[in-house]
Amino acid sequence: MAENRHQEVGHKSLLQSDALYQYILETSVYPREPEAMKELRELTAKHPWNIMTTSADEGQFLNMLLKLINAKNTMEIGVYTGYSLLATALAIPDDGKILAMDINRDNYELGLPVIEKAGVAHKIDFKEGPALPVLDQMIEDGKYHGTFDFIFVDADKDNYINYHKRLIELVKVGGVIGYDNTLWNGSVVAPPDAPLRKYVRYYRDFVLELNKALAADSRIEICMLPVGDGITLCRRVS
Ligand SMILES: C[S@@+](CC[C@H](N)C(=O)[O-])C[C@H]1O[C@@H](n2cnc3c(N)ncnc32)[C@H](O)[C@@H]1O
Repeated sequence: MAENRHQEVGHKSLLQSDALYQYILETSVYPREPEAMKELRELTAKHPWNIMTTSADEGQFLNMLLKLINAKNTMEIGVYTGYSLLATALAIPDDGKILAMDINRDNYELGLPVIEKAGVAHKIDFKEGPALPVLDQMIEDGKYHGTFDFIFVDADKDNYINYHKRLIELVKVGGVIGYDNTLWNGSVVAPPDAPLRKYVRYYRDFVLELNKALAADSRIEICMLPVGDGITLCRRVS
């Protein structure tokens, strides 16, 4: 039954069946996944918090998107072991840059040898700590305004609105911000009495608020895609 289908599947996608998702992975994603991304994905799978990683199909999507928009100067908030970071680093040119932020350096360093082996670590400027103060500093500084081609946000959902207030200044007109998890495990349409896990319930209101705010923001064009846990692309138009 359609209304139950999201609870029946155990994968990191909102598709109607495991088989369909598996088909995408096996037909399109895994055969073309760069060796380094495969290695990082397999390494991450052994980590206790592996649920946090960006899925392989989303990694492929980000890699393609970055090439389509010719992204060079990028930012990522929420690195974990670096799967989306590596997808970005492999997509941008050799002199491209990624300002990458995470409160946890250990997880980044777990994946770093794979990123180094892939020959793309020189593109990454990793900052350990909460992202918000760094963004505030960049806004205050002035010289970063309108300089980013692409920004990927995959961190603390309760701060997405705060991030957006700052990132809209930092992304260039015509550039793209991608907010991850905007369908939040399908919970955005769950009834009030649905048995949601505690953290899903807690962050759901923030995700709902973000989705409303993005839809009402005339400075951006948006497109919400059911890739991974939902990703909303925002193209700055003014
Ligand atoms: C879902 S994971 C990121 C997954 C990553 N994009 C990947 O491809 O594997 C979320 C990350 O956000 C980080 N995080 C949480 N709060 C943060 C904050 N205030 N500033 C920066 N990073 C934060 C967490 O430490 C965690 O590594």
